Amino acid sequence: MTFSIQDKIFEPYLPAADIQEAVARIGGELRARFDARETVFLCVLKGAFMFFSDLMKHIGPEARQEFVFARSYAGTQSTGRVWLSELNTAVVAGRDVVVVEDVVDTGLTVNVLADRLVEAGARSVCICSCLYKPDAYRGRRSVDFVGFSIPNFFVVGYGLDYKEQGRTLTTIYKLKAS
Ligand code: IMP
Ligand code: MG
Repeated sequence: MTFSIQDKIFEPYLPAADIQEAVARIGGELRARFDARETVFLCVLKGAFMFFSDLMKHIGPEARQEFVFARSYAGTQSTGRVWLSELNTAVVAGRDVVVVEDVVDTGLTVNVLADRLVEAGARSVCICSCLYKPDAYRGRRSVDFVGFSIPNFFVVGYGLDYKEQGRTLTTIYKLKAS
């Protein structure tokens, strides 16, 4: 079933069950790698809110969560600039930080954010993203934990929006070629 938001038509791409399977897999990878008591999971709002809340159910109760707002997109295009809200730097200092993103596209957002975390004294910084677009990526850092590597599609659902709509969909949809 296609789905439309304003001027765009979207078609189903990643089913909810496949997404939850990837979330559980990444949760296991994170548990194996990090000591929850010394780790901060940083949710990049707004887009990562769905992925973050599902992922955190697979992480022990000792882990700490923090939130930051980031913005770089206008419509279906990256603006090439990134705006970040304030970070709780006191919490980050001396801890391992896992940046949790909805999608890593050009990589601008996570690279700017990771630099800021290193500056704030994080012991280590790694990047975890539900979706990753390797063909669009121009970042220096590795994207360490990935749900799905996808082509350069514009997608909505599971936290991702088009003009602030579509975030609550449990399936991920992609823009239909016109
Ligand atoms: P980057 O800084 O270019 O890596 O872009 C990261 C941000 O742009 C993501 O966190 C999203 O909020 C937004 N974004 C990138 N690709 C898409 C997409 O396909 N759909 C919706 N938002 C996207
Ligand atoms: Mg985002």
